[in-house]
Amino acid sequence: MDEANLSVVSEFVFVGLSNSWEIQLFLFLFSSVFYVASLMGNLLIVLTVTSDPHLQTPMYFLLANLSIMDLIFCSSTAPKMIYDLLRKRKTISFWGCIVQMFFTHATGGTEMVLLITMAFDRYIAICKPLHYLTIMSPRRCIIFLVISWVIGLIHSVTQLVFVVDLPFCGPNELDSFVCDLPRFVKLACTETYTLEFMVTANSGLISVASFLILIISYIFILVTVQKKSSGGISKALSTLSAHVTVVVLFFGPLIFFYVWPFPTSHLDKFLAIFNSVITPFLNPVIYTFRNKEMKVAMRRLCTQVINYSKIS
Ligand SMILES: *[C@@H]1O[C@H](CO)[C@@H](O)[C@H](O)[C@H]1NC(C)=O
Repeated sequence: MDEANLSVVSEFVFVGLSNSWEIQLFLFLFSSVFYVASLMGNLLIVLTVTSDPHLQTPMYFLLANLSIMDLIFCSSTAPKMIYDLLRKRKTISFWGCIVQMFFTHATGGTEMVLLITMAFDRYIAICKPLHYLTIMSPRRCIIFLVISWVIGLIHSVTQLVFVVDLPFCGPNELDSFVCDLPRFVKLACTETYTLEFMVTANSGLISVASFLILIISYIFILVTVQKKSSGGISKALSTLSAHVTVVVLFFGPLIFFYVWPFPTSHLDKFLAIFNSVITPFLNPVIYTFRNKEMKVAMRRLCTQVINYSKIS
C-alpha cells in the first residue's frame, strides 16, 4: 500500500453522547448560554478598557488582551460544537479539525503566558509600587504581549507539523464534541506512541509549568507582602484570590486532560465543553465584576451610550 491509498479519510465524525437526545439538548442550551455570555463579557471588557481613559494601565491592557484571546479561543470551537449538538451526524473535515486545534492551542498557549505576565504585573504593583510605571512601561507591555503570541504560536505549530501528514485510513470517529490532539492522533494508521507522548509532553508540560510558575509567584507575592506589613496582606489576598481562582479553573481541566494517565468514561468530554465555553466566561466574571474600578468604568460607558443615544 502506498501513502496515497492510506489517506482515505477526509472527514471525522464526533460521537460525543449521540445516543442521548436529552443530554444533547441540555448541552446545547447550556453551551449556547455560556458562549453568548462569554462573547458579551469579553467584548464588554475590551470596549470598556479601550474607551475609558482611567483604565489606561498595564493591568487593564493585559486584561483586555486576555479577553481578545478568550474571544478567539471560544469562537474557534463553540459555534461548531453548538451547531453540531443539534445535528444527528456530526462531521468535521480534516482541515477543519486542524484549524480548530491550531487556534485552541495557539490562543490557549498565549493565554497561559499572558496569565504569567499578569502575575508578574501584580508582583511589581504590590511589591515594588514605586517602580511600577518604569518596569511595566508601555514598550515592555507590548514586548510581553508579542512574546506571549510567539510562545502560543510555537506551542501550537510544533505539535501540528507532526500531525498534518499523518495517514488516516479507516477509523474516523472522535469520541468528543471538539477536535483534540490526543484523540486525533490515536486515529492515525501508524504507530503513534511517540507522537502521543510528544503531545502529552508539549501540552502537559506547558500547562503544568505555567500552573506551577503562577502558584509559586502568588505565594512569593504573599510572603513578600507579609514581611513588609501585616495590614497589606488582606488587600493582596483579595486581589490575588481572583487570579488564583482563574488559574485553578483554567488549568485544572487542562492538566487533567493532558496529564492524567488513566482513561475516563465521559468526564473528559464534559471537560472539553467546560473548557470551550466556561473558561472564557470566567475572566469577565472574576476579574471584572469583583473589581471596583472596572465596575465604575462600565457604568460610565453605559451612561455615555445612553446619553449618546438620547442626543442622536
Ligand atoms: C493589548 O496590550 C497592548 C500592550 O500593552 C496595548 O497596546 C493594546 O492596546 C492592548 N489591547 C487592548 C484591546 O487593550
